[in-house]
Amino acid sequence: MLHSSVVAVAALEGSDTVLPCALSTKQNLVQMLFDWRKKAPNKQEVFMYDEGCHYNNGLQGQDKLFRGRVSHFPEELESGNASIIIRNVRMADSGEYTCDFPRLQPEQTFIIKLVVECVLKDRSEEKSGAAPKPYTWILNTTEDRALLKCEVPGASPKPKVEWQDSDGNILPAEEPQVSYRGDRCYITLLTNVTKMKTNLLHCVATQEELCHVTHGEIYVHYHEKTGEFKSCSGVGVFIWGWVSGVLTVAAPLALFVAAKHIRKRGLLRENRDDPSKDP
Ligand SMILES: *[C@@H]1O[C@H](CO)[C@@H](O)[C@H](O)[C@H]1NC(C)=O
Ligand SMILES: *[C@@H]1O[C@H](CO)[C@@H](O)[C@H](O)[C@H]1NC(C)=O
Ligand SMILES: *[C@@H]1O[C@H](CO)[C@@H](O)[C@H](O)[C@H]1NC(C)=O
Repeated sequence: MLHSSVVAVAALEGSDTVLPCALSTKQNLVQMLFDWRKKAPNKQEVFMYDEGCHYNNGLQGQDKLFRGRVSHFPEELESGNASIIIRNVRMADSGEYTCDFPRLQPEQTFIIKLVVECVLKDRSEEKSGAAPKPYTWILNTTEDRALLKCEVPGASPKPKVEWQDSDGNILPAEEPQVSYRGDRCYITLLTNVTKMKTNLLHCVATQEELCHVTHGEIYVHYHEKTGEFKSCSGVGVFIWGWVSGVLTVAAPLALFVAAKHIRKRGLLRENRDDPSKDP
């Protein structure tokens, strides 16, 4: 068996990616057989072409992970090009692929190594341990500043938590306070905003390991007339107090859903000292 060198291909999660494989002889492949497999975990069948029959026109045997996502390039066959395209690549597509011409003498095998890089996004629905949306609220105020609090409940591994303004600039904050319950990490982060710096603020939690990012928002504004800071975020202290007291898994989940709902309803209302907010 003749081995060419390994070709490395990098792709971004969700993109369409060509895995290259072409005979240097440019031999016509229309009446040939070529077979693409993924080496690990179990030599899955990715794409097979056999004299015009292939996995997209009736040939059986394709691994279901690749069904409907892989095609060859019919117009390239005549010039010995057996490349394929995988659409919407996933993290799990990473690994070594072989492109085989078993009927050639000598038989030829090409090795293509695909590395799929993840895209930082909200994965709280799909990954256990991914940080839920942070809770944000005004803790207290003086005449010239408001102290904002952000709580990230129950994440693993430990997320990086930052306050950012609406342009994504990181705001100065105190050292985050970190505590653990089991392997779950609870983080509190305080920051001051002044009259000048009030606006839409984000508390951003990032877990590079999970490729996960999520954020809570709070809109803080200063009323010249009353000399008070106000916020429009809907979830307040009571939610957090509640979550803290509950150690089961189901309750915080239910709360999370409830919080989303409340957040929606409360979006346009002032929430400080609003008695109607009590559950
Ligand atoms: C084979 O075809 C693919 C898809 O059209 C193309 O990207 C690639 O450059 C071709 N390879 C060669 C060696 O022509
Ligand atoms: C505001 O909250 C912080 C943190 O809980 C506390 O240390 C501080 O004393 C409070 N300030 C006022 C004016 O209540
Ligand atoms: C907020 O401002 C107060 C008063 O200046 C200060 O004591 C406190 O440490 C500040 N907190 C943060 C998180 O910056």
